[in-house]
Amino acid sequence: MLFKTTQQHEALREKVRKFAEEEVKPIAFLLDKENDFPKEAVEKLGKMGLLGIPYSKEYGGMGLDMISYAIAVEELARIDGGTGVILSAHTSLGSWPIFAFGTEAQKQKYLTPLCRGEKLAAFGLTETNAGSDASGTETTAVDKGSYYLLNGSKIFITNAPKADTYVVFAVTTPDIGTHGISAFIVEKGWKGFEFGDHYDKMGIRSSSTAELIFNNVKVPKENLLGKEGQGFKIAMATLDGGRIGIAAQALGIAQGAFDLAVDYAKERVQFGKPIAFQQALSFKVADMATKLRAARFLVYSAAELKENQEPYGMESAMAKQYASDIALEVTNDAMQIFGGTGYLKGMEVERMYRDAKITTIYEGTNEIQRVVIASHILGRPPK
Ligand code: CAA
Repeated sequence: MLFKTTQQHEALREKVRKFAEEEVKPIAFLLDKENDFPKEAVEKLGKMGLLGIPYSKEYGGMGLDMISYAIAVEELARIDGGTGVILSAHTSLGSWPIFAFGTEAQKQKYLTPLCRGEKLAAFGLTETNAGSDASGTETTAVDKGSYYLLNGSKIFITNAPKADTYVVFAVTTPDIGTHGISAFIVEKGWKGFEFGDHYDKMGIRSSSTAELIFNNVKVPKENLLGKEGQGFKIAMATLDGGRIGIAAQALGIAQGAFDLAVDYAKERVQFGKPIAFQQALSFKVADMATKLRAARFLVYSAAELKENQEPYGMESAMAKQYASDIALEVTNDAMQIFGGTGYLKGMEVERMYRDAKITTIYEGTNEIQRVVIASHILGRPPK
C-alpha cells in the first residue's frame, strides 16, 4: 500500500471535481426535490470516458486503475451521493461481471458500449425473499433449447429503468442451493421485460431505483454469463468489488458534508468569534477529519489490492462498513455544526445527511459486511 495517490490520480480528481461542481452542484437540489435522474450529466460523464474508468482501452475504457475509479465516485458523491452511485452501480455491478466472466463476443457486444458511455448498466440480484440471503433467489430461467425462459422479479435495482444492460441472476437448477443459480445478460426492451414504479426514496433521490419484472422473457443461450450454476459466485465476486464503489460513495458524501461544515464554522460568529474556534466544535472537526482520513486509507487500499489482483474481499467489506458508518457520523456532526440552518430543506448538508444512510444498507448491510469480514478471519460457520 502506497498510502499516497499519484499526480495522475490527483489530476483525475481535479477533473471530476470541476465537473461535479459545474454540472451537478447547480442541479443537485432540484434532482433531490423532484426525484429526477441527471440524464445530461450522465451523458457527459460518458463522453468524458468516465463510465469506463478501470477497463482497458481495447473495450473503450480509460485503462486507469481502481483508485482512479474510487476517486471519481468519491468526487461525484462529494457533491451528490445519487450521481456517485449511478457511476458505481454502472461500473462495478453492471459492467464488471461482463468484463470478468464474459466471452469475447459478450465483451465486444455489451462491455464496449458501456465503457464508451453509450449505454448504462445495472445489476439484478435482490428479490423480495432474497435480500441479505442472496441464496434465496426465486427468479427462474428454464432451458428451452436455444433460449432460457426468464420469470420473476428483482427489487431495489439501482439505475433501473435508465440502464440498457442488466446482469440478472436466476435459478436454472432448483433445489441445489447456490450451485443452481446462473447469471444472464438481459437487454432493456426485450419482450416481457418491464419495470415497476420508480421508488420514492429518503436519499440518493437523483439515482433511479426500480423493480425489474420478467414475464416469459426469452434470453438467448449466448447471453448466459459464465457457466450454468456459476451465478452465485459471480454475484459474490461482483459485490466484493462493488463494495469499494459504495465505500467511495460514502467517503465522498462525508467529505462533502465536512467541507461545507468547516467553511460554515469559520464564517459563523457566536460569542464574539467564529464557532470553528469554540473548542466543542474544533474537537468535532478534528474527529471528523480523522475518520475521513482512516476511511480514505481503507477505500484506496482495498482498491489497490483489487488492482494488483491480490485478495481484497475482506478489505472491501471493511472499507464499505467503516466508510458508511463514519459517513453517518460525519454528516450528523456537519448538521450539528450548521445548527438549525442545516435542518432546512435546500441546505446541502440536509440532503447529504439523508444520502449517507443508504450506504450502511445497500450492497450488503453493514451487518452482512461483518459476516463477510468474520468469515475471512474465522472461516465459514458450520452449517
Ligand atoms: N467470491 C466468490 N465466491 C464466493 C464468495 C466470494 N466473495 N463468497 C462466497 N462464495 C462462494 C462460496 O465459496 C461458496 O461456494 P461453494 O458452495 O462452492 O463452497 C458459495 O459461494 C456459497 O457461499 P456461502 O455459503 O458463504 O454463502 P451464504 O449463502 O452463506 O451467503 C453472504 C454469504 C455473504 C451472506 C451473501 O449472501 C451476501 O453477500 N449477502 C448480501 C447480498 C448483498 O450484498 N446484496 C446486495 C445487492 S446489490 C445492491 O445492493 C446494489 C445497489 O443497490 C447499489
